[in-house]
Amino acid sequence: MELVDTHCHLQFDAFDEDRDAVVERALEAGVSKILTLATDCESSYRVLELVERYPSVYAAVGIHPTDAHKAQPGDVEKIAELAKHPKVVAIGEIGLDLYWDTSTLDVQKDMFLQMLRLAAERDLPVVIHNRRAGKEILQVLDQVAGLPLRGVFHCFSEGKTYADDVVRRGFYISFTGNLTYRKSKLPDVAKHVPEERLLLETDSPFMTPVPMRGKRNEPAFVQYIAEKHAELRDMDPAEIARITTENAQALFGWSSGTA
Ligand code: NI
Repeated sequence: MELVDTHCHLQFDAFDEDRDAVVERALEAGVSKILTLATDCESSYRVLELVERYPSVYAAVGIHPTDAHKAQPGDVEKIAELAKHPKVVAIGEIGLDLYWDTSTLDVQKDMFLQMLRLAAERDLPVVIHNRRAGKEILQVLDQVAGLPLRGVFHCFSEGKTYADDVVRRGFYISFTGNLTYRKSKLPDVAKHVPEERLLLETDSPFMTPVPMRGKRNEPAFVQYIAEKHAELRDMDPAEIARITTENAQALFGWSSGTA
């Protein structure tokens, strides 16, 4: 069974002690590819160190909405340069976040737009972070409706109507460990998403799925997300793995197997 983890932050301190073992455990769990996402200019350099070190690791470079206010003049240009690396397969993580009060909405929108334009220029997909900003994100996408954009709404937490809108716009949807939480309303939404639009992710080190909840999350745990989707759809986990891996390959331009 081949799986991919389309969203984690392998460069974070949480993995400093055992990063080699984390990548190894993912491979043992059948995770052939791991996409690690930068959150600012500095971590965009850091994720490139990781892709050089680990054959199964790929990167997204970009500036996260909660870090938008810290961006320095020239950062976007630096990220545009880094995006030329052959193992950079997306611009992310980018988007809007109205939960954490770090960057103002105007600053976030401005950065989001710059990142969307960069993705279109480089012909790369985008990985979108949405926290309590669903409406505003669609407004920004409408503003740049002429750009050839594709990508994924990660850590999806909206309802079915929103999912329909995202799918209609040609984007993919992925759920994190919160899909497995006991009182979650997300299973209903997940079942509703067409399988050809589903991706798997951990968002590790955060959002640990059941039955590992309470521990640090890691890419190997993406198997539990696959199992949850399989349970919800009454499908074989291997079938969910096959479909979501093919979806990720189509979006990020990956071939099958381990690099
Ligand atoms: Ni993330």
